[in-house]
Amino acid sequence: MAREHNFSAGPAALPEPVIREAQEALWELPGAGAGVLEISHRGKVFDAVVHSARDRLRRLLGLAEDQEVLFLHGGARTQFYQVPLNLLRGGRAAYVETGAWSTYAIDDARRYGEVDVVWSSRDTGFDRVPARGDLPPLASGTRYLHYTSNNTIYGGQFDHVPDPGDAWLVCDASSDILSRPVDGARFDLLYAGAQKNLGPSGVTVVVVRRGLLDHCDPELPSMLRYPVQVAKESMLNTPSTFAIFVVERVCAWIEAEGGVAEMARRTEARAQQLYGAIDASDFWTGRVQPASRSRMNVAFRTPSAELDARFVAEAEAAGLRGLKGHRSAGGLRASLYNAQTDAAVEALVAFMADFEVRHG
Ligand SMILES: Cc1ncc(COP(=O)(O)O)c(C=O)c1O
Repeated sequence: MAREHNFSAGPAALPEPVIREAQEALWELPGAGAGVLEISHRGKVFDAVVHSARDRLRRLLGLAEDQEVLFLHGGARTQFYQVPLNLLRGGRAAYVETGAWSTYAIDDARRYGEVDVVWSSRDTGFDRVPARGDLPPLASGTRYLHYTSNNTIYGGQFDHVPDPGDAWLVCDASSDILSRPVDGARFDLLYAGAQKNLGPSGVTVVVVRRGLLDHCDPELPSMLRYPVQVAKESMLNTPSTFAIFVVERVCAWIEAEGGVAEMARRTEARAQQLYGAIDASDFWTGRVQPASRSRMNVAFRTPSAELDARFVAEAEAAGLRGLKGHRSAGGLRASLYNAQTDAAVEALVAFMADFEVRHG
């Protein structure tokens, strides 16, 4: 079967040139005399890969000199507890609840200190994220403010970086990292599982400000300690070498294509096209309020769950994959990460028009 249009929420479509480079590197990585899966993480060739990945991420995220980039294991979900283990330590933190992933992060943080949920859209089915200025002032002594920049499941996305006041700013950017220009220097800690916008699953990019390292719990097991991971340059144990290799190639692709500003321009056009189709007819309903709409995960539905299921089945038969909503949310979802193509979005919009004619 040929490769088809892929709207998966993650692991997600990767840029075609990167897939082809990875194919070649499986057999032989230039200079290594072996494939990328077969070489030591401590050798010269892989060392160059990891340094390049770090440098490219620094440039693309606009990081400051006092921020470190780590490549860790365990997915973004490990950061749900690694962050509070290191930084909360019985103190107080503020969390913004905009969907299931932030709820899981809150549940984990509550094990290690006091958590103020300072804003939540739970009561309205996570149909929105806060607008600029919606968050209340944080309680004095709050260590950090945690938010999820893009809500992968329900399809809401912050259009600004919230102001944490005197607290540290912590962001789960798993599903929109490198999709638009942000001032990366503002984040005290930022993390993202790679499998949406950065590469394959198996590596989590963590950016941490050096000033935080002195505040991390020194009693934790070494794998969980950010200062140790920084000192060992993410090589305390064997890192996910293949995943890091692909992240480096994806970052190179983004730079060659014109950087995050170009990614944002393409994404915006694709999102406008899809939301335009949703808004053009009463047959389709967008899940979140227009002001909160994600450019990465477009969540929508037909008039009924039966038609949603039919849409997914017919779309698959037509070569449009991965459009089923998250199992906890139902409905439909089209993911428009950086590697998405205009052709896929055009095919989806045309298929929607046809489906509506047949079932509307
Ligand atoms: C925003 C967000 N945070 C966290 C996660 C969990 O990521 P992982 O599977 O890497 O632990 C996901 C996964 O989809 C996500 O979308």
